[in-house]
Amino acid sequence: MTRIEEFVKEQAEKHGRDRNSLMPILQAVVQSERFLSEEAMVAVATELDLSTADVFGTATFYTFMDTFPRGKNIIRICKTITCHMKGKDAIVDTLEDMLKIKLGQTTTDGKFSLLQANCLGWCHKGPVMLINDEVYPEITPEKAVEVVSKYLKKG
Ligand code: FES
Repeated sequence: MTRIEEFVKEQAEKHGRDRNSLMPILQAVVQSERFLSEEAMVAVATELDLSTADVFGTATFYTFMDTFPRGKNIIRICKTITCHMKGKDAIVDTLEDMLKIKLGQTTTDGKFSLLQANCLGWCHKGPVMLINDEVYPEITPEKAVEVVSKYLKKG
């Protein structure tokens, strides 16, 4: 049994093996591996007796489930209407310039990926940026640069 198969088995034992267990198990894999590999999805499908297409469909439906490797720090800018109207485009432009990548890309040193996300539930304090699990509300281009610079220093 491979390491990921073992991990999935443990998660299935914890969360159960019915369909409702699919999301928590996928989330656990993403947390531990940083992304969902094909191998992991196949392992989940086998463990839960679902088709791989089914697992893949669920994973790609949720933008939080990355199906290919991402940078060490994942920056997500909310793209939903409120944040959009409050100026998320300026944040995206600024970070694209700063990191020399486009949305959806990862820096060559693997430190950052720049992505968009659907509403993060902080609309009243938009625009919102998320770095890994940390929320940065009412972000401005200047603040975004400041925050990302801190992560840059941390390595
Ligand atoms: Fe951006 Fe809700 S619209 S957090």
